[in-house]
Amino acid sequence: MGEDLILRNQLFVGDCRNVMALLRENPLYRFDVIFADPPYNLSGNGLQWKNKKDGGDWYMVNERWDQFGEESYAEFTYQWILQAYRLLKPTGSMFICCTYHNIGDVMTALHEVGAKCLNLITWQKSNPVPNMTRRTLTHSCEYIAWFAHGKGWTYNYDLMKQEPDANGKQLRDLWKFPVCQGAERIKGPDRRAAHPTQKPLALVRRALRATTRPGSSALDPFMGSGTTAAAAHELGLRWIGIEREEKYVQIIRDRLESRGADFNVSPKPTLLDLSAEEDGQQDRWTPRSRPQARRRSFYSAPKPLG
Ligand SMILES: C[S@@+](CC[C@H](N)C(=O)[O-])C[C@H]1O[C@@H](n2cnc3c(N)ncnc32)[C@H](O)[C@@H]1O
Repeated sequence: MGEDLILRNQLFVGDCRNVMALLRENPLYRFDVIFADPPYNLSGNGLQWKNKKDGGDWYMVNERWDQFGEESYAEFTYQWILQAYRLLKPTGSMFICCTYHNIGDVMTALHEVGAKCLNLITWQKSNPVPNMTRRTLTHSCEYIAWFAHGKGWTYNYDLMKQEPDANGKQLRDLWKFPVCQGAERIKGPDRRAAHPTQKPLALVRRALRATTRPGSSALDPFMGSGTTAAAAHELGLRWIGIEREEKYVQIIRDRLESRGADFNVSPKPTLLDLSAEEDGQQDRWTPRSRPQARRRSFYSAPKPLG
């Protein structure tokens, strides 16, 4: 690989499992940070709440891309996490968004690939949607699992002490941000949210700022409305995004072009057969495919640096 080769900002349109398998063939595509906000497998219900008092209607996420019929969600989760983990630099960090619905599958897959859990960040929504059913507590939190390969990951400790809610002290693992709304929320021609699960920019920016240096590279396998690319652009990082649904590509284009970002959009790459084994790791998920010995260190506390 020549010294002059640098990773260009790029959006790939396709299934992230195939795109990441293709990226792996070129060592240029190795990332300092991966921020992933995968489908949560919550669709199929379609609850709606018309004329909310605080304005607008509320629709439960009900998207084709969030439905897993024949395909097992656990297997999907394992496959994309395995592909992503292979693209993470030895010093890199991977953040995965989840809720109580899918956290079990996410943690199991991370366990299976041998990743080390650094923190389970709780995102407390300062403006959660009230619980329509009134039969359980209001769901006001999501989680962001922070993983690394094992040692030598980058953490900008002093920078994080400067975050507004850290008050000059160590930043904690409870992050309070409002759900994306108002001017930040991208709207479609019908004036409804253009993407149903747009994450707050401030949340993604914090995760990237905590774990990168200027010029680092970021990957988002589930680009959605392009929040990770927008945060990376603000921080001067290079980025690669992957999104399967053509309908979101224009939203991402508009969002990034309005910020003056320089990037390309690449067409769907050819499909790969994911059934082959590599590195002794199976591309197909089977329960307990990892030896017990790897499991013990999974939740162990990291040793302090030097
Ligand atoms: C939860 S949303 C991400 C939202 C994003 N974080 C944002 O702030 O806009 C997940 C996205 O992944 C896309 N997606 C679902 N399955 C995919 C796959 N196998 N490969 C690539 N993208 C996929 C969906 O179309 C959706 O836009």
